[in-house]
Formats: sequence, structure tokens, C-alpha cells
Amino acid sequence: MKQKIMVTGGCGYLGSHTIIALIESGKYEVISVDSCVRSTPETMGRVKAITGVNVKNYRVDVCDRESFFKVFEENPGITGIIHFAAYKAVGESVEQPLMYYRNNLGTMMNVLEACEKFRVKHLLFSSSAAVYGDIKKLPVNEQTPMGVANCPYAHTKQICEGMIQSELVANTEMNALILRYFNPVGAHPTGLNGELSPDKPNNLIPVIMHVASGVLPQMTVFGTDYDTRDGSCIRDYLHVCDIADAHVKAMDYLVESRNTERCEIFNLGSGNGLSVLEMLAAAEKVIGKKLNYVLGDRRPGDIPAIYSDSTRANELLGWHCRYDVTAMMESAWKWERFINS
Ligand code: UD1
Repeated sequence: MKQKIMVTGGCGYLGSHTIIALIESGKYEVISVDSCVRSTPETMGRVKAITGVNVKNYRVDVCDRESFFKVFEENPGITGIIHFAAYKAVGESVEQPLMYYRNNLGTMMNVLEACEKFRVKHLLFSSSAAVYGDIKKLPVNEQTPMGVANCPYAHTKQICEGMIQSELVANTEMNALILRYFNPVGAHPTGLNGELSPDKPNNLIPVIMHVASGVLPQMTVFGTDYDTRDGSCIRDYLHVCDIADAHVKAMDYLVESRNTERCEIFNLGSGNGLSVLEMLAAAEKVIGKKLNYVLGDRRPGDIPAIYSDSTRANELLGWHCRYDVTAMMESAWKWERFINS
């Protein structure tokens, strides 16, 4: 029998790709809870176009405890939750910290309380490489200590990880995995689902794609004087479908009781650091034209380089990245043309 999984934030970028992967595994039945304040209900139409399956999204704010709990009452037998629903813009979290604490901690609190009340056994939590703060030693593995958070967003992820650890002492029926993402990019290979960026995107790939499609006239490489191989920052980019696949494998791991600790942590990164200039060269090759970019000053808060040691996820989850940087760019470009044509 299929396990019934709730995905919070299911209409978002990572949530929707994970729903597609869960359905395609054939092992999971999915319901989604997403208020759609930072996403669109149209995403479920895209999920249907790709999988042929109608996934129900409850348009409920996970912070609204009463409405959120009603979803469990209407859907008895939920065995697992994948908790994505959170705000994630670093700059915005600096400008409106309390909004970040209220939303990201509020959703976490209600998810944990629901797990206890409705006896949900398996929890996957969306964390971030941002919990490591300023990095002293590369690559980063799960033993690398958390640093001082660079922004309120990163701090909320650190606190949520602590909330899970504390709650597991009280709720002995549940097991959890904390998944720390590096830089998820790209779109579904069909080009039918991808990231809907805000009007003014900040992240590198949406900016590159907007410049390529003419939505933005020009972009800036933030810093070319870092102590890296070409002077620009290095990040660990991985394809969103690889991240989605990791969630299926992580849920399998809990369902099959392969975990040895009640709460385990996994880094999800390709293990391969690429610079901003290397990313631009890869994009130009795929798109087939020169992109209009200038070399500019450093962006405040950026760290020079970070990439993951993902050995733990490779060995224990049996997870390996299938998509390279060309596939990341090809899918992102396909999606950009789909939404901006
Ligand atoms: C950031 C956050 C991370 C968050 C992620 C997704 C930090 C330290 N990290 O990652 O916590 O999970 O976004 O929201 O803020 N760049 C340019 N020009 C641009 C845009 C970006 O050169 O127009 C460069 C940046 O300086 C950086 C790299 O591209 O070196 C990647 O930037 P970005 O996509 O914003 O991701 P991160 O900053 O790594």
C-alpha cells in the first residue's frame, strides 16, 4: 500500500519537483498544503501535465494551526511530512526579521505539533547550507559545526533544526531527517515546471536566464577579487530534480527504518564547486549567445566559496546527482522560454 505523505509548500519550487518525484516513484500518495502567498496554485496543473496525477493542494497557511490541523482530520493516515513551507530570501530576512521568525518558526511549530497529535512517523525538514555560516574549511560535511548565522533566514533554519531535536525527545514515535541544501537550480527537463522568481530575482540562475531572454538588460558579477581560481565566488549548484530525488530516497530511508539515529543530517550538494564566471560560460554555451554582464563589486554578505561533501547522502541514501551543469542550464533555459514567450 502507498504511504500517504503531506508536502508543505507543495506549490513552491522544491516542493513541486519533489511531489513529481514522489509520484513517479510509485510508492507515495501526496497531498499538498500551501497558502500560495509565495507560489501559485497553477503549479498543480504543471504537476498534472508532467505526471498525469491530480494532486490536491489545501490553500492553507501552515501557521494557521486550526486550519492546518483540519487537513489531517480530513486525511487520516498521513505517515510522513516533508516540510518545505518557509520564506527563503536572505535580503528580505534582514529587512523584515520578525516576519521570518514568525513564519518559519510558526510553520515548524505547527508541523511538529501535528506530528505528535496525528502520530506522523516520518519527517523530512528543508534546511540550508546557510546554517554553516562563514566557512573555515572546505568541503563542508555534516560534522562541520554550525557557524554564526549570516542573516535571520539562516538563523530560522538553525532554530528549526534545534526545535526538531528537542521535540524528538518528547515525541518518541517520530524520526526525522534534516536535509541541508546547497544551491538548487534548473527546472524540470520538460521545461513545464520551474522556479517562479520574484519580480527582481536575486539568485544567479534566474538572473542569467532573464538576461538571456531580454527580461533584464544586463547583470553584474558580484566580485572578481576573491581568493578563488578566477576571482569570482564558488558555489555548489545542483539540479532541482536531483534534490527532489534525494527526498524520495530520504523518505524511503525512514519508511524502511534504515536510520540508526532518531534524527540524522544530510548535506545535499553535488560536491562540485563552480564559480560565477564558470556558470556564465556554461550558460552562454547552452544558450548559444554572449550574455550582457559586467564585472562588479562584491555583494555584502557573500562568502568566497562553499561546496559540499555529500558522501553521507551518497552512501546511506544511495543518492547521486544525475544532472550536470549543462543539464541545469538547458532545463532552466527551456523553462525561461516557456514562461516568458
Ligand atoms: C543564497 C543564500 C542561501 C539561500 C539561497 C537561495 C547567502 C549567503 N546564501 O545563496 O542561504 O538558500 O540564496 O535563496 O545569501 N551572483 C552574481 N550576480 C547576480 C546574482 C548572484 O554574481 O546577479 C553570485 C553571488 O554573488 C553568488 C552566486 O552568484 O556568488 C550565487 O548567488 P545566489 O544564487 O544568490 O545564491 P547564494 O548567495 O549562494
